[in-house]
Order: sequence, then structure tokens, then C-alpha cells
Amino acid sequence: MNSFHGKTILVTGANRGIGLAFVETLLKSGAGKILAAARKPESLNELVANGSGRVRAVRLDITDADQVSAAAADHADVDILINNAGTAALAGFIQADTVEAARADMETNYFGTLNMVRAFAPVLARNGGGLIVNIASIASHVNFPLLGSYSASKAAVHSLTQAVRAELGQSGTKVVGVYPGPVDTDMARALDIDKTSPEDIVAAVLQGIATGSEDIYPDAQAIELHSGLLADPKAVERQVGQMLPN
Ligand SMILES: NC(=O)c1ccc[n+]([C@@H]2O[C@H](COP(=O)([O-])OP(=O)(O)OC[C@H]3O[C@@H](n4cnc5c(N)ncnc54)[C@H](OP(=O)(O)O)[C@@H]3O)[C@@H](O)[C@H]2O)c1
Repeated sequence: MNSFHGKTILVTGANRGIGLAFVETLLKSGAGKILAAARKPESLNELVANGSGRVRAVRLDITDADQVSAAAADHADVDILINNAGTAALAGFIQADTVEAARADMETNYFGTLNMVRAFAPVLARNGGGLIVNIASIASHVNFPLLGSYSASKAAVHSLTQAVRAELGQSGTKVVGVYPGPVDTDMARALDIDKTSPEDIVAAVLQGIATGSEDIYPDAQAIELHSGLLADPKAVERQVGQMLPN
């Protein structure tokens, strides 16, 4: 039996990309109930129809504090929270016309995740502890200038993950950070680089959780960059610094 068997799991951004792969994989892994959260619940109709009665759609924009509070009140049975929803502006700090895209990335990736963690921490504690999985990025650890504001927002998610892990330790809630390299989803569509499938990312995350990892590097590029950062961080900074915005 795996750590997801029979559990109630909420996945944000469940309508496409990595979030969709989480829901489909968790269904096959024996999850009890999956709360598939999306800004537009109608985008989940097919997923719910194919979910053998175990997938429920939840309307949830993680930047909307009222919707987040309502979701936590309505779903007091959540055992596992997967903070997957995110946005990425393909822009440099200087090259962008305004700071609005940078603000939007921070609003969703950092403050949205913070909203979710704050709302669901008491729910998880009441249910005996549970698990929070924050989908960060390898860009949490080194800034990719063509995704400057995204990288900064994901560095903030990493920092949040560390602090929340410490704060929630006493309530028995485990907090896992996930640091993928490029993944083959809409988010990375414009990038002409090697990408890992969302299904492979999810399989590696579930495997990492099963083996007790707190920090999961779920693909070959993430593993290579992470070991490079441990060995020679300036060399990696110079390497990814060559990936400049157009
Ligand atoms: N793709 C990559 O290369 C890559 C690499 C490392 C980490 N990641 C991370 O993996 C996670 C999933 O990304 P993905 O690759 O699957 O991207 P994606 O295909 O663009 O999907 C993003 C998902 O997030 C949802 N979302 C965006 N803003 C939201 C908000 N305010 N409230 C609720 N949902 C919101 C989107 O919903 P809508 O359909 O309504 O827009 C969509 O479901 C993100 O956190 C991303 O940063 C991705």
C-alpha cells in the first residue's frame, strides 16, 4: 500500500499539465478522493467523468483569498495538499516593458501558494498531520534570465517551503519541495529545449515521497543542475545566464 492509498488529496491547477498528470496517476495509485481544483471547473468535466466517482471538481483561483478560505472550509477531510498551480512570464527583468508580469508571477506562485498553505495547515493538522507538496522549480536555486521573475518567484516558493516545514513539524505535517527541470507542458511550449513528460515527473515525485525525500529533483536535467550547483554554483550561474530573453 502506498502513502496515497485511501487519502483525500487536493491538487491545484488540475486541469492541464503536471496537475492533470497528478490526478490521473493518483487515481491509478488508489487515492480515496481527489479534489481537482481549477479556476474554471468546467475544464475538469472529462476528468470528473472518467474518475470512477473519486474525482470532484473544485473552483479555485489560488490568488483569491476568499475562494481559498471557502475551499478549506468546504473540504475539511483533506490529507494531502499538492500546490501545483503556477504561471511563468517568459521575460527578462530589464527587457520587460513593465513590472506587471513579475508581480503576477509572484502573486500566483508565491502568494497563492502561501494562501493555500495557511488555509489548509489547520485542516491537515486536525486530520492527523498529512503532507504538503509544493511544486517549485530548479529555477528556485539559480535564476534563468529568460524567466527572471518566474525564477525569483520560485526562489520564494523554496524559501516558503523551508520555513513552513519547520513551522508545521510539530503538528506532524510533512512538507516536500519539488524542483523540476523543463517539463513538456503549455508553460514550456515556447522553449526549444529537452523536456521531461509530466507523467514521468509525477512518477518521480510519488517515488520520492515514498522513499521519504523532502527535496525532490524529478528529472535528469534537475538532478544534473542540482549537483552542479552543489559543486560550483558560479559555473551554473554563468551557464544558465547565457539563456537570455529575446
Ligand atoms: N513546465 C515546466 O517546465 C515546469 C518546470 C518546473 C516547474 N514547473 C511548475 O509546475 C507547475 C505546473 O506547471 P505546468 O508545467 O503544468 O504548467 P501549465 O500547463 O501552464 O499549467 C499551469 C496550471 O496552473 C493553473 N493556474 C495558473 N494560475 C492559477 C491560479 N491563480 N489559480 C489556480 N490555478 C492556476 C493553470 O490553470 P488555467 O488553465 O486556468 O490557466 C493550469 O492548470 C507550476 O507550478 C510550474 O511552475 C513547471
